[in-house]
Amino acid sequence: MAVDESSPQTERIELPSFDLSGKTAVVTGGSRGIGKAIALTLASHGANVAITCYTGCKFAEDVRNHVCELGPKSHYYAHDVGNPDEVRKMADEVLADFDKVDILVNNAGITRDRSFKKMTREMWDSVIAVNLTGVFSVTKAFIDGMADNGWGRVVNVSSIVGEVGNFGQANYAAAKAGLLGFTKSLAREYARKGVTVNAIAPGFIRTRMTAEVPEKALEAVTNMTPVGRLGEPGEIAAGVLFLVSPAASYVTGHVLDVNGGMSMGG
Ligand SMILES: NC(=O)c1ccc[n+]([C@@H]2O[C@H](COP(=O)([O-])OP(=O)(O)OC[C@H]3O[C@@H](n4cnc5c(N)ncnc54)[C@H](OP(=O)(O)O)[C@@H]3O)[C@@H](O)[C@H]2O)c1
Repeated sequence: MAVDESSPQTERIELPSFDLSGKTAVVTGGSRGIGKAIALTLASHGANVAITCYTGCKFAEDVRNHVCELGPKSHYYAHDVGNPDEVRKMADEVLADFDKVDILVNNAGITRDRSFKKMTREMWDSVIAVNLTGVFSVTKAFIDGMADNGWGRVVNVSSIVGEVGNFGQANYAAAKAGLLGFTKSLAREYARKGVTVNAIAPGFIRTRMTAEVPEKALEAVTNMTPVGRLGEPGEIAAGVLFLVSPAASYVTGHVLDVNGGMSMGG
């Protein structure tokens, strides 16, 4: 079909909106690192934010207070994302406090790194339970409510490691790669219900997680990264903001790489 560029119709361009006023977001692992940056970024664009935490609830309290200073409503909830009963209880509490959830950011995650030769079954199980099954449980608790309301956003925090693998991270890479298949499948299932499902794949970001990585290994990462430095949590939060915003209404089943160019290879 030909497009008539001279028609006034084609000149009316809808400007992208990043306004999240009136929306409620759940950010798992919002107590620190990338999750904290996501919670504050979404709140600074008007979203109410439910933050979940596990061992760092005193940090979650600070994030909750910071969100409230920005204006939106916020509460934090202690739970183990790897325990389905605790996830159900957390979801009930969130829905009692906020009535509905429009945005879910599955961010909580752990590492238990070891070469495969030395990796124990416990290290495998704990990473899969939190990073993959935990995402299943939390998504199960909220996504159908979004579909019933005809609008929703799910963003799963994967990793470049889920795309290319990493020495000593077979468990983590398997979980993060699993998230990509999960994301694309749900994107197809919910596309006609107004719910988009996307993933973000950070490179190496300066948080507690990378503080455990030996300095020499981080130096090697920096050398492999075209921009020549580690990323900051706010740089991931900016990508999440785009994916959950009204501006990204036509983006679903996408994996957004935010890694300083690392995935181009060298
Ligand atoms: N940093 C990176 O370079 C990088 C790169 C790629 C992807 N990622 C991913 O980004 C996400 C955030 O990582 P981060 O770097 O910000 O790490 P972080 O600073 O260690 O934060 C991890 C968050 O997950 C929460 N969490 C951990 N285990 C949990 C559990 N069992 N139940 C509920 N919450 C739990 C923590 O809560 P508490 O503090 O309350 O225990 C914390 O808020 C993770 O999914 C990670 O895999 C990170």
